[in-house]
Amino acid sequence: MSFTVAIDGPAAAGKGTISKAIAFDFGFAHLDTGLLYRAVGALVAEGKDPILAARELKPSDLERGGLRTMGAGQAASRVAAIPEVRAALVDFQRSFARKEGGAVLDGRDIGTVICPQAEVKLFVTASPEVRAHRRWLEVGGDEAEVLAQVKERDRRDSDRATAPLIPADDATIIDTSFMSIDDAVAKASALIREAIRKMNN
Ligand code: DC
Repeated sequence: MSFTVAIDGPAAAGKGTISKAIAFDFGFAHLDTGLLYRAVGALVAEGKDPILAARELKPSDLERGGLRTMGAGQAASRVAAIPEVRAALVDFQRSFARKEGGAVLDGRDIGTVICPQAEVKLFVTASPEVRAHRRWLEVGGDEAEVLAQVKERDRRDSDRATAPLIPADDATIIDTSFMSIDDAVAKASALIREAIRKMNN
């Protein structure tokens, strides 16, 4: 059986945490698609051509250090605006989504472009201020600067011509600004259980 959960949303909205919890609870495979773009961004920082880097990306590239930093996120967001980079990563994501036993993918365009037929689509969001505060608690430094970076990345991810960050028409929006992570996971789990029940009927 294949069953795909698509979880999209802006940086630091909680989609990674929700995805991991869902994958664990339901026994689904999990792909953090942001990591693909972060790895391409890191290779570009070393002088590689972005399109070649995406076409030749290897599993070991996803395991390199330093991919979780704010700088790596900005580099990822820049290469993610290149249509050929996105195109090179489509097949890998689509075949992951159809893995036997179910899969959850989190990113920006999973419900709109990669898996428009996903059985469950969620769009996890929160206000820029709340997201910047969460990120600042992780990375420290100047909170105003973290907010400026969050807003810059939102703008770049949302305004790009190819696969911009927007909710799919049939996605359920989960706003985590004033919601605990446990409540967000419970809401996502309820939607998934309902979709599985419908599929089995
Ligand atoms: O989810 P993340 O913060 O790790 O993503 C890093 C960047 O990668 C994000 O700013 C935009 C890009 N990205 C994308 O364009 N499409 C995806 N499916 C995932 C990430």
